[in-house]
Amino acid sequence: MVAGDGIGKEVIPNALEAVRASGAAVDFTMFDWGADRYLLDGTTIPADGFQMLARDFDAIFVGALGDPRVATNIHAKEILLGMRFKMDLYANVRPVRLLDSSLCPLKNAVPEDVNFTVIRENTEGVYMDMGGLFKSGTPDELATQEDINTRKGVERVIRFAFDYARSHGRKKVMMSDKSNVMTYAGGLWQRVFKEVAKEYPEIQTQHMYVDALCLQMVREPRSLDVIVTNNMFGDIVTDLAAALQGGLGMAASGNIHPGRTSMFEPVHGSAPPIAGKNIANPMGSILTAAMMLAHLGETIASQKLEDAVLDAVREKKTTVDVGGSLGTRECAAWIAERVAR
Ligand SMILES: NC(=O)c1ccc[n+]([C@@H]2O[C@H](COP(=O)([O-])OP(=O)(O)OC[C@H]3O[C@@H](n4cnc5c(N)ncnc54)[C@H](O)[C@@H]3O)[C@@H](O)[C@H]2O)c1
Repeated sequence: MVAGDGIGKEVIPNALEAVRASGAAVDFTMFDWGADRYLLDGTTIPADGFQMLARDFDAIFVGALGDPRVATNIHAKEILLGMRFKMDLYANVRPVRLLDSSLCPLKNAVPEDVNFTVIRENTEGVYMDMGGLFKSGTPDELATQEDINTRKGVERVIRFAFDYARSHGRKKVMMSDKSNVMTYAGGLWQRVFKEVAKEYPEIQTQHMYVDALCLQMVREPRSLDVIVTNNMFGDIVTDLAAALQGGLGMAASGNIHPGRTSMFEPVHGSAPPIAGKNIANPMGSILTAAMMLAHLGETIASQKLEDAVLDAVREKKTTVDVGGSLGTRECAAWIAERVAR
């Protein structure tokens, strides 16, 4: 467990109380990696940190990383992007589910309208830090940022999306890209998607340009099922998706490499302006813990957490961002108590 920075330090320990209450057979080890540790002794992640995580743990539960005192954000990059890239956690799974109509900004939306999953490619794209500057600082300055798409990377995340659909009783997989203008990368995604789809004849396929997908997410989210897309588009559309489910405080995610140690984190960041005030919503972290427990085979405990969060929403035992009046600790304690019952 790496609570990290800002509100991560509040929501993760509180989510842990709900996990403990669920009776799941899991032990936690806490690591103090984050801005405080970095500012103390310069450690971002210890030298053998990723090997140790992969060797000694079944899953990693992370809060958020990012702190205004570390302007370069180096610790966050090394810890968080390090886990994603160096542990090769290539599928970022972001379920988007509306628990209660009151949480959705769309007029008259009901829970059945918003129930889809975004699978975001997590190890390539424009996040590879490839590119450069030419004539930097002059009026002729030029900047490039390269978008990396490998056959292997594209194929494995598309296959993951189809496997996910199959194992979760989903009927459709949509691939979203911008192949009308990003013809080389988009062309690769298009070809691989069509090839892999042949192995899953029972799953319907769809394609949408990512701009059209944004429109669809707002106008007709009910039509969406499983969406697979690249790293950057996945990053962007899942913030919009988070809004449909009640905001960043409600959104959960897993960074998965099947068969390896995977990492689970709420979608939100460290939210420095609200940190330390006992107002951050812990439900995204509790739903993330539920995802992690399901991944570890603790399906009953996972369901208990999900049910208790749903009860909290219905009974307005929530933080203010989703319409309640409880603090972080009080909301998490209410959920833990409901889980225990
Ligand atoms: N995975 C991560 O660790 C991650 C993700 C995004 C941003 N960050 C980092 O977090 C820092 C802040 O980034 P940001 O402001 O763009 O995004 P953010 O998610 O931290 O906050 C965005 C907005 O959402 C609200 N919010 C977020 N989580 C909430 C919660 N649980 N309860 C209630 N309100 C919540 C915040 O008040 C804020 O208005 C930056 O350093 C950034 O790099 C980290």
